[in-house]
Amino acid sequence: MVTDPFTARLPRRTIPRVLNGQVALVTGASSGLGKATAIGLAAAGAKVVVNYIGPITAADEVVREIGEAGGEALAIEANVAAESEVMAMFTAAVKHFGALHILVNNAGMQRDAALVDMTLDQWNTVIGVNLTGQFLCAREATRIYLRQGINPEISAAAGKIICISSVHEVIPWAGHVNYASSKGGIMMLMKTMAQELAHHRIRVNSVAPGAIRTPINREAWSTPEAYEKLLKLMPYQRIGEPDDIAHAVVWLASEGADYVTGATLFVDGGMTLYPGFEDNG
Ligand code: BGC
Repeated sequence: MVTDPFTARLPRRTIPRVLNGQVALVTGASSGLGKATAIGLAAAGAKVVVNYIGPITAADEVVREIGEAGGEALAIEANVAAESEVMAMFTAAVKHFGALHILVNNAGMQRDAALVDMTLDQWNTVIGVNLTGQFLCAREATRIYLRQGINPEISAAAGKIICISSVHEVIPWAGHVNYASSKGGIMMLMKTMAQELAHHRIRVNSVAPGAIRTPINREAWSTPEAYEKLLKLMPYQRIGEPDDIAHAVVWLASEGADYVTGATLFVDGGMTLYPGFEDNG
């Protein structure tokens, strides 16, 4: 067991090169889980579209890092909640790389408030990016996959969609009703798309992260006191690292997962195992 989990870091684990020749688009790829996933997919051999919003600096940094490691990437700005921007992004992606094989629906945000204080704007903003954004991007990716069909030299599937969900697709979360609702929605969005698209050989799955060390939850891990409290929720006794999510996404996108569709892979150190019952409840 890690004795000082607050400062512990995992040694770098090599990503297998299982996505050679494939093109991936990762939304919200300029920071956090999206950044790690974009870098991970590139390490696996995919060419990567790095979607971002706002100043390009951080996305450029991801593109540069991928390039320095011998990969290929392109930054494209789009607000995933805006239909025309999403459509333009997918057109530009295919124009640049010639195809699309993997969508990682990652862009997500929190705007926390108690139910009684939550504004409609806080509700709509989170549902718009986290849920509507995933719908719009999945729709555009699917249109491309259907047009392309299957190229067995590249993949047994016509395309893959990986939704980044959360443990909060099943764990209710007081003070975060907009966020938890968006993630609960992603669960049924993912499963329904998987059911609808399986006969086209389009695989749709989710990765549901627990607490991962990213800017979205900084206050939950950036002080020893907060980290101590967080550990009580995690049987595995360490916070997740963005790389933990990248590894899961790469596997779900790979041929090794070809018979996997409609599944949520929880990558949460056991957060969904009801840790309150560890000690007999
Ligand atoms: C949230 C984090 C939170 C984690 C576990 C994630 O989906 O974005 O803020 O720490 O769930 O509660």
